[in-house]
Amino acid sequence: MELFLDLSVQLAPKHKQGLLLANPVMTSSGTFGYGTEYSHLFDIQKLGAIVCKGTTLNPKDGNSQPRIAETPCGMLNSVGFQNIGVKTLVKEKAPIWAKWRVPVVVNINGDTIDEYAQLTGELDGIAGISALEVNISCPNVEHGGIAFGTDPKQAAGVTAAVKSATSLPVLVKLTPNTGDIASIAVAVAEAGADAITVINTIKGMAINIASRRPLLGNIIGGLSGPAVKPVALCMVYEVAGAVDIPVIGCGGITTASDAIEFIMAGASAVQVGTANFINPHSALDILEGIEEFMKKERINNLTEIIGVARQ
Ligand SMILES: Cc1cc2nc3c(=O)[nH]c(=O)nc-3n(C[C@H](O)[C@H](O)[C@H](O)COP(=O)(O)O)c2cc1C
Repeated sequence: MELFLDLSVQLAPKHKQGLLLANPVMTSSGTFGYGTEYSHLFDIQKLGAIVCKGTTLNPKDGNSQPRIAETPCGMLNSVGFQNIGVKTLVKEKAPIWAKWRVPVVVNINGDTIDEYAQLTGELDGIAGISALEVNISCPNVEHGGIAFGTDPKQAAGVTAAVKSATSLPVLVKLTPNTGDIASIAVAVAEAGADAITVINTIKGMAINIASRRPLLGNIIGGLSGPAVKPVALCMVYEVAGAVDIPVIGCGGITTASDAIEFIMAGASAVQVGTANFINPHSALDILEGIEEFMKKERINNLTEIIGVARQ
């Protein structure tokens, strides 16, 4: 008998309007542009959601070159917040997104709590934006970013400020570069986050032995790709055990079985990042692989396997 598969997930169950995804496969911030760049490659409307490049109040050029280095099973990046700025995003990108079926989440970054709140205000009530993802976790910018993500009080402060400036669902993206990610997760959940994304990149660096200098212009970058997967999976497991809001798993997800591992660890959805640079179809391939797995295992509803490895 043909199975009717239900892959839908609700990522903001405590929020009035909610954030219902048709399926759990999202693309991660900074690895899928504004979605528009990929729309000619495959039917991006089939994805669960798209998270756009980290957005700031003013346009930014990002860090100095070189900004990318390959590592065994991964990559280092120190792109920083190269982006078009919130005003251009609202004027040029949101009207395109408003015509899409796939929800778009805007990833936001500020240097101060006030800046996060101001940025949030600019994005509130704009058609085409389904939710915000607050990045308190970037390891390669001078101000803000990671500082907010490593102190529970500051993390809660940013979350509360963003929540009070918007009617949209708010996801908070955590850094792995902290001693106790679960306590940060609890702080942002208590401050009103609707869901938590785990993880951003892990701090890393490389040295060019010929020039005897750090390889990245910014010296320190963020490690991503398959190399970080076991770390990310473990953190998803820890965070999912500490909070009662949805967790979105991210970090090294390259195949459907990677994604299913994160879901079994407690993630309600997954984000595909670095894999997009190797195969731009990755997210769709992962979605199809999850569907195949569900058919093979006779799983009707994806929620049946969320967190099963925890029991
Ligand atoms: C080139 C590049 C740019 C990124 N830019 C952002 C960003 O602007 N905001 C953000 O929250 N995360 C950013 N990230 C982090 C990713 O969204 C993701 O959390 C991380 O790479 C781990 O997932 P992955 O191993 O699947 O890539 C970036 C990652 C890469 C590789």
